[in-house]
Amino acid sequence: MITDKEKAELAKFSYYKNYKEGLIPSPKMMDLVCETQLAALGDFVPLKIKIKLGNFKKEISKYDGKWVPYLAREGEQNDRQGLNYVGLEGDTPYDSISLPEVRKRTGKLLRETDFTVPTELFETLPSLKPITSIWPTLGRCTLVKVNKGGWFPYHRDSVLINRNTFRIIAFLTNTGHESYQWEHDYALRNIEEGRCYYVNTQKAHRTHSYVHDSIHLVMNVPKTFDNILRTMDLLKHGET
Ligand SMILES: [Fe+2]
Repeated sequence: MITDKEKAELAKFSYYKNYKEGLIPSPKMMDLVCETQLAALGDFVPLKIKIKLGNFKKEISKYDGKWVPYLAREGEQNDRQGLNYVGLEGDTPYDSISLPEVRKRTGKLLRETDFTVPTELFETLPSLKPITSIWPTLGRCTLVKVNKGGWFPYHRDSVLINRNTFRIIAFLTNTGHESYQWEHDYALRNIEEGRCYYVNTQKAHRTHSYVHDSIHLVMNVPKTFDNILRTMDLLKHGET
């Protein structure tokens, strides 16, 4: 649970002040190279890979009733839940559901690349392997379920160009336009149910579900030039 007091503390954050105090490092040349190449692709970019949703539905039904509330906030009704796909050593699918939650639990300022250990979900949900086996290692990955009326408010993720991961999202059950909406950089985007996308989540985005069981997998891929080229090999619309 994120309390009103914690929300007020977060609102005081200053990029400028933290940079001046040495808490935010300057971007490195490799950040510029990687970010420029990623920016050339777009910010909501379909990949060739589609997840077989019939198989996924069967596999995920094993976890009915076991999903964990996702970042509950004081004084808010918001029906959204998570399962941990890649987390910390010893994690189960029911731990490390969001970065603020896990920072609070461990008392450490963990980054997306500190999460490297797949949970049992990696084996119990084989339908996800076509996308999750592309990169040699993964950062924090979470399955997110948004139920009817659930939403994520406008926010940006890791907006500084020294971010150490980029995001790939697999849109799974009930993520088509009739069921679910993802507004990205202040415009609605088309989502093909089952398809995987590179999404630049540094841009402002918000989401809303009109139905139960709208599920997507949020993956953090370590930001290396090799991993960007591996992603480019998956573009639905490439050069040829
Ligand atoms: Fe986000």
